[in-house]
Amino acid sequence: MSISSPPAVTTAASPPSAAVPVLLNVNGIEVIYNHVILVLKGVSLQVPEGRIVAILGGNGAGKTTTLRAISNLLKGERGEVTKGSIELQGERIENLSPADLVKRGVIQVMEGRHCFAHLTIEENLLTGAYTRKSKGEIAANLEKVYNYFPRLKTRRTSQAAYTSGGEQQMCAIGRALMANPSMVLLDEPSMGLAPQIVEEVFNIVKDLNTREKVTFLLAEQNTNMALKYADYGYIMESGRVVMDGAARELASNEDVKEFYLGVGGGERKSFKDVKSYKRRKRWLA
Ligand SMILES: Nc1ncnc2c1ncn2[C@@H]1O[C@H](COP(=O)(O)OP(=O)(O)OP(=O)(O)O)[C@@H](O)[C@H]1O
Ligand SMILES: [Mg+2]
Repeated sequence: MSISSPPAVTTAASPPSAAVPVLLNVNGIEVIYNHVILVLKGVSLQVPEGRIVAILGGNGAGKTTTLRAISNLLKGERGEVTKGSIELQGERIENLSPADLVKRGVIQVMEGRHCFAHLTIEENLLTGAYTRKSKGEIAANLEKVYNYFPRLKTRRTSQAAYTSGGEQQMCAIGRALMANPSMVLLDEPSMGLAPQIVEEVFNIVKDLNTREKVTFLLAEQNTNMALKYADYGYIMESGRVVMDGAARELASNEDVKEFYLGVGGGERKSFKDVKSYKRRKRWLA
């Protein structure tokens, strides 16, 4: 596990596993919104092939901005990457359009699900196959999605607007899978869902990871759940990575437990106020 040495701007993120090839490498990116608001202040992270990596942190930490920077969805938000680089399998991808990225196997499921409300679940799923030509492959993929999400099969003819929040989240993930991705960026899959539905969604994510070898980079405020399913985690605060490590280590780390998992009576305003971070800061100073 590593803790960023303040006031360093970038985190020297230790590779989650040296033995597994790195699929995505984000290297010291800065993001500015509206030409003036510096939101990401040098974020580095790595996603090895076939793993689940979580970006954790509270409101406004920069999780969504990081995912948007990777999938090149900042433009619509008047944001831009002004420093650093993003590489997929060693190739720079900052200038690829979101559609080109989908063709390269990277797709983002946005925060808030974004299903087409007036389309049925099945029609929504089929919109995810827009980059593919073969009808046979699309049909086979649809069956595969239904195998992972049996709830979607039973609701296939229902308008998305009349399905539950959990079903809409499943629909959004299922639609992404229709593009046959190698990597899915998942923004707050647990948002607004009841705990057992969150568990159901995460179980399917884990299944897709294990059986289909889909790599996931997910952003979550639900630290507890994310660390239960992820292999590796990065904790962000105020546009920086403040700590990263194997999920198991982070889950048992006293500072993380105190600040993010609600263990101990901390009224801390910042992760940097937790005890050993401060201690470490003194060591590193
Ligand atoms: N389009 C935008 N224009 C200006 N500032 C923005 C824009 N989008 C986000 N921000 C700011 O960037 C910072 C990081 O926001 P971001 O949405 O990346 O955080 P987050 O970690 O995803 O938070 P949450 O958990 O609430 O979704 C916040 O201070 C936010 O106000
Ligand atoms: Mg967000």
